[in-house]
Order: sequence, then C-alpha cells, then structure tokens
Amino acid sequence: MPTNQKNIFIEKLHLSIDNKELAKLVLSKKRNKSSDLKKITVKISNIKDLTKLTFIYTHNTNDKTKNVNIEVGINEIEKLLEKDFFNADLFTTRETVQLFTNKKNNSKIKISEPTFTEVNFNHNKIKKQRISLKDNFYLQELGITTKDFKIKKDMHDKYRQINKYLEIIESLLPSLKDKKEIRIVDMGSGKGYLTFALYDFLKNSLNLKIHISGIEFREDLVEKSNILAKKIGFKNLNFKQGTIEQTETGKIDILIALHACDTATDEAIFKGIKSNASLIIVAPCCQKQIRKQFNITNEMASIFKHGILKEQQAVIITDGLRALILEEYAYKTKVFEFISGEHTPKNTMIIGTKHNNKVKKQELLNKINSIKQLFGIEYHYLEKLLK
Ligand SMILES: C[S@@+](CC[C@H](N)C(=O)[O-])C[C@H]1O[C@@H](n2cnc3c(N)ncnc32)[C@H](O)[C@@H]1O
Repeated sequence: MPTNQKNIFIEKLHLSIDNKELAKLVLSKKRNKSSDLKKITVKISNIKDLTKLTFIYTHNTNDKTKNVNIEVGINEIEKLLEKDFFNADLFTTRETVQLFTNKKNNSKIKISEPTFTEVNFNHNKIKKQRISLKDNFYLQELGITTKDFKIKKDMHDKYRQINKYLEIIESLLPSLKDKKEIRIVDMGSGKGYLTFALYDFLKNSLNLKIHISGIEFREDLVEKSNILAKKIGFKNLNFKQGTIEQTETGKIDILIALHACDTATDEAIFKGIKSNASLIIVAPCCQKQIRKQFNITNEMASIFKHGILKEQQAVIITDGLRALILEEYAYKTKVFEFISGEHTPKNTMIIGTKHNNKVKKQELLNKINSIKQLFGIEYHYLEKLLK
C-alpha cells in the first residue's frame, strides 16, 4: 500500500475525531479468508466524560466490543489495515472516505458525499428526531431540503445547526415547567430557519402551548415568513417588521437573538432582562463596541499591539462582560461553543437562566469594573442600556 494513501486516510481519521465528525469507520474484506472475524466497526463514544473509540468485532456467530483511548485505537486501526483487512470506509459528517487495497498492497482512496449528518456519541441511546424531514414544507421552502425532502448537499451544516439548537433549547425547558403558555421572541429572525424549526419542535413534537414572534428589520423576509407560516398552519408564529431597539415586546418567557450584530445583541439582552424573561439565549457576532474602546496601558500592551489578538480578546471581553452583567441581574449563565467553529465562526452561545437566589451585586460590580479598568474600557453597551 503506498504510504501516502494510508497516511491520508489515517490523517482524515484523526481529523474527524478531533472535529467530532466521526460517525463510524468500518474495516472489511478480510485478508485471511478462513478467519472467523468478518468486519470491525469503530465509533466514537463518550464514556464517563472521556472520549474513547469503541471497536465492535463482528464474528460469524457473535459480536465483541472493546473501548480504548483514541491514540491506542488509531494505532490498532493502522495495524489491522496492514495485517487483517484490505478495505476501510470512513463515514464522517463531512465526507465518506473509502480506502481500497489490492493483494499487491496498492491502495487508492475514494472520497464522496457524507451519508451521516450527526454523530451519535452514546450508542446505547436511541437517536431522537426533533423535527421530521418527511413532508416538512418549511425546510423545503427555506431551501434546506430538496423536492423529495432530502437535505441539500450544501445544507448539511445548516441542518446540523438547527438540530443542535433544538437540542439545547430542549435541555433548558425544565426551567419553564410552570408556564401555561410559553411566549418566545426571536430577535433578528432573518430567513426564519431556526424560528420555524423551534415552533415545529415545541408545538408539534412536544405539544407545548407556545407563541413565537420573530422580529426582523428586513421587510421582504418578514413578508415571506408570514406567508409561509400561514400556508403551513403555524397559527401562533408571526413575524414583525421592526428593529430590536424599538420593538415593544410585552411579556417574554424566552428571549432569543442568534447572530444579531454587535450591540443589537445587547439591545436584545436588555429587552429580555426588562421583561424578566426566564431564559435569554444569544449567539453574538461582530463584537465591535468594546474593541473601539480598548486602551491597554499595562504589561499586556505588548500582546495586544497585534491587531488579531486584540480583536479576539475584545470578543472574549465583550461576551464575558455580557455574562457577568446577566449574573448581576439574577441570571445563571453558561457560555459555550454552540456548534463547531468549522461550520461557522459565529459559534459562541450565551445562555442566561433566571433564578430567585440572592445576588452578590456589589461583588459582581467590582469584578466588572476591574475588568473594564484592566482593558481601559469606559462602558459596555449593555450596562449603558440598563442604566
Ligand atoms: C445573521 S442574520 C441571523 C438570522 C437568524 N437569527 C439565524 O441565526 O439564522 C441577522 C438578522 O438580523 C437582522 N437584524 C440585524 N440587526 C437588527 C436589528 N437591530 N433589528 C432587527 N433586525 C436586525 C438582519 O436583518 C438579519 O436578517
């Protein structure tokens, strides 16, 4: 087998594990025909918070399973390809990579479209479908699926993002268990991919009583979304033309603002806090407001003289302060990667969950002020709105 082909294959395997994109790997076409071992399937698993490779050895009459550390597993796969199997199929959510080896040990690689859209880390759990693709007219109308309801080639990332989003929202629902009707406002709803999917999931899959309003600046998008919602009978879903800043929202239970630029995210958080929303869910982008103010005169100045580092730091400080300000207003916060940075650069999510515990307001204010001082920041836009 030419080394470079094997190396490319193993490199792709490495990458798919690092990026959490490995759906499965199958080793097949045994070299020794009399061997009882027919094939080996390898999957990625989360076992007691550790990422492992699960090897399933399929014999003529039974299966055997073992879990190993990643590096040990990859070495094992390399050895198995040398000694026990001719072929290997690597299924990732990005692509399908097939390695074919002949008896003279010459190999070639074939790369094709992915057949998996998700990675299942817990193979004992039955995978739950949050929204159905079959007869799903809004996904079709929004250009995510084809005429026969299959995900379009270039829409796998979008579909993955929608599913991840619904999974996150589902995990937060227990904090709303006492609500008879959940009122949701999606600020900067855009084309409405996530808004339609959220309505479908909460109303049609979970049977919850809900009302969702999408607020969107662009009139054409609002009109299209309202026509679509009416056409498919999503009665409690509507879209309003307007700015986040000027929208009178009324009572909100869940405030959502995904990818609203710069201070529009602060305006949305502000509306959520003012309305005493139980959940505030934002995925910020284009954080510029703090960067403009950065004036670092301490020993870190020598690091932030580099524009790219200054920019990255400004994003961290902007979002970090948003989380601290939410805490000041009695929200428990979580900041995490929404979807792998491979799929979108706008991938940080901040979630605030309202609580009734006593808040150490002064302590939090002191923290906020000393961070601002450290970076020479005069004010954070969210603070200004709240004052
Ligand atoms: C990047 S898109 C995101 C759409 C959607 N939330 C998503 O994540 O798929 C941002 C949308 O917010 C809208 N938008 C930006 N600033 C806004 C504001 N201040 N008021 C209302 N809409 C705004 C834009 O017109 C655009 O459609």
